[in-house]
Amino acid sequence: MNTIESILSRNDFEREEIVYLLQSRGEEQVFLHKRAQQVKLEMIGNKVYLRGLIELSNRCTKNCYYCGIRLGNEKVKRYMVSDEEVLSAASFAYENKYGSVVLQAGECTNKTYILQVENLLKEIMKLSNNELGITLSLGEQSKDTYKRWRDAGAKRYLLRIEASNKELYTKLHPHTHSYEERLKCLYDLKELNYQVGTGVMIGLPYQSLEDLADDLLFFKSFDIDMVGMGPYIEHKETPLFAKHTELLSPNERYQLSLNMIAVLRLMMPRINMAASTAMGSIVEGGREAAIRIGANILMPNLTPFTYRENYFLYDGKICIEESQEDSLVNLQALVTRAGADIGFAEHGDSLHYWNKQ
Ligand code: 5AD
Ligand code: SF4
Repeated sequence: MNTIESILSRNDFEREEIVYLLQSRGEEQVFLHKRAQQVKLEMIGNKVYLRGLIELSNRCTKNCYYCGIRLGNEKVKRYMVSDEEVLSAASFAYENKYGSVVLQAGECTNKTYILQVENLLKEIMKLSNNELGITLSLGEQSKDTYKRWRDAGAKRYLLRIEASNKELYTKLHPHTHSYEERLKCLYDLKELNYQVGTGVMIGLPYQSLEDLADDLLFFKSFDIDMVGMGPYIEHKETPLFAKHTELLSPNERYQLSLNMIAVLRLMMPRINMAASTAMGSIVEGGREAAIRIGANILMPNLTPFTYRENYFLYDGKICIEESQEDSLVNLQALVTRAGADIGFAEHGDSLHYWNKQ
């Protein structure tokens, strides 16, 4: 047995073994990806579930060093999608059998906004006869707010830890952002019985392979239900852009992201994992490849076109122009190219979550 075969003969990898797997290229990488693909098919099947993504607002009170819509970027034209537009996008998702929607926005914690989201959740439940699954991705909030939103109909929450190593986290955020607070939010969400999703960026400045291995071990020890991760892509109007000459090449960040997805699928066979927009932005066909080797969630963009160019997290983000990259016909073609089927009108909940209940 060669090294990769002997590592893959078990699924409770040690940190050094994960590092070895993340570095694999060539034949070893093919072997890793094939194994992950097999495990995915056996454990969760061949379906890809859709989450219609509505980027509610690009207003954000935070200043993450990597993000294009950070508070400090004065070049961003700030917007908030109107309630009517949100509900019309949700109706579109419902009528076209997407199964679920995601409401995502920068971080905002004022009372009016919290009530507005609560109301939107109730309205979306109403217009879809309580059938649409709703995921929120609205940053750090109080436990009370999370509870309000859960009671109003949200059942999943995405809050990426971004980097599970506190030291690395501190290098990517101003000191006013707290790693402990972020962790606490994840625990609160868990206590409120949300399906909890987290994730990290891959190929960040200062990030080592050991950090990435620790990220995967963090997902496992936190017993996360869903993961969204993808390559870090630089944005010119951010402080972290100063480090862009030290980055791995886009292809290296992409290969590393594929390996992260494959290894995590082996470690946590029944979680939901997204083929992130960043995967499709860094390499054409990136989302298809992610699905082939382990991902089972796609988040087609349903944000009204007039706003999309203002939700510019990183350079080269796809689905901004009116080219309908995420039209139903194209989604179907994408999923077919990935050798999978779309689970129309299904929630596609995390099986990992339901196994725990
Ligand atoms: N590159 C890749 N992903 C990014 N995000 C923010 N900025 C970038 C970037 N420059 C991701 C973060 C955040 C999610 C909404 O987008 O992980 O959680
Ligand atoms: Fe705001 Fe999220 Fe961007 Fe940080 S990553 S600046 S919290 S939108």
